[in-house]
Order: sequence, then C-alpha cells, then structure tokens
Amino acid sequence: MVFDTQAINKQRQNLADYDEIWVFGYGSLIYKVDFDYIECESAHILGYERRFWQGSHDHRGSIASPGRVLTLVDIDNARCFGKAFKVEREIFDHLDHREKNGYLRHQVDIHFPDKRIVKGLVYIASPDNAAYLGEANIKDITKQIFNSSGPSGSNRDYVYQLADALRHFNEIDEHVFQIELALKQYSINANL
Ligand code: BEZ
Repeated sequence: MVFDTQAINKQRQNLADYDEIWVFGYGSLIYKVDFDYIECESAHILGYERRFWQGSHDHRGSIASPGRVLTLVDIDNARCFGKAFKVEREIFDHLDHREKNGYLRHQVDIHFPDKRIVKGLVYIASPDNAAYLGEANIKDITKQIFNSSGPSGSNRDYVYQLADALRHFNEIDEHVFQIELALKQYSINANL
C-alpha cells in the first residue's frame, strides 16, 4: 500500500542538468512551505486538473484508514494554478521524502503571469501506484475525507486550507470547491 518513490525519483531527472530548478506546487505545497526557496511566484501549468484521487496513508490518513489527497489528471485545454518555487537541488531530498507515497516527479512547463515559461518539476501520482484510489463519486470522496486524519492533520483541513489558499489568489477550482462544500454540509449533518 505504501509505495516509497524516493529511490525512483532520484533516477528520474539529473538535477545537475538544470541551470535553475523550479518546483510547481498545486496542493499542500501552496500553503505548507516547509523548505527554503530562492524565489516564489504564482504560476500555472497547462493540461492538468486537480483530483482527490490519491490515497494518503502517511500524512492525512493511516494504513487502516487512508485519506484522499490530490494528484493531477491530464485534461485537454485545462489550466492548473499553483505556486512555483525556485529552489536549490538539495531541497528535493526533503520534497522526495515528504511526497514519497506514490508521487513521481515530472518535468513540466511552468507559466508565469508575465508570460515567461520555465522548465520545472511537479509531483504527480499516476494510476499505477499502489496508493492510488482513483475516481469516486463526490459523496464517497467526502465521507472518506471527513473520516480520515494522520500525522499531518485531518484530511478535512487539507481540503479547507487549500480552498482558502485558492480563494486568496482569486482562483476557482470546481472539484476542490465542490468537495469543500460537501464536507461542510456533511459536517453539519454529522453534528445534528
Ligand atoms: C503539491 O502541492 O504540489 C503536491 C501535491 C501532492 C503531492 C506532492 C506535491
């Protein structure tokens, strides 16, 4: 179930080939920045959307009761907002460890509001990883998130913090906001 991708990620890109290294954050990296960076800017990538389709056994859930966290799915013409961080290579030791449960680093073009484009890395959990949960209806996703928590906190807070961060940047993400709303409604009913 826990699929440690650290060793694979170290083989995927030769970080020495990059003059400067950017990492693109679309989930918790937007609001939980527990690493040093050289620059940080709002940015977007094209062709991807967020989905709560990855299992979290290590951060927002447990082996017995996995939470649901974000990954990206390929969608034509989609745009995914996030934050781009210019970092030193050594930071990937920390990030690879933090995101080791099924995420692989992929190279993407990161677009900045001033039209600059840089090559960067983004962590994506694809359907072939052992922690992948995949698509489910909104009700089931909501129920699972509502009932999960792990060493990094409750799965609910993971959703709420991201939704708040997106609103702060005036960004709309229908999937995230739909789950946020469903969680709030579920929580009212659970307390009745
Ligand atoms: C991110 O915030 O970019 C992120 C999301 C899931 C796993 C790793 C990173």
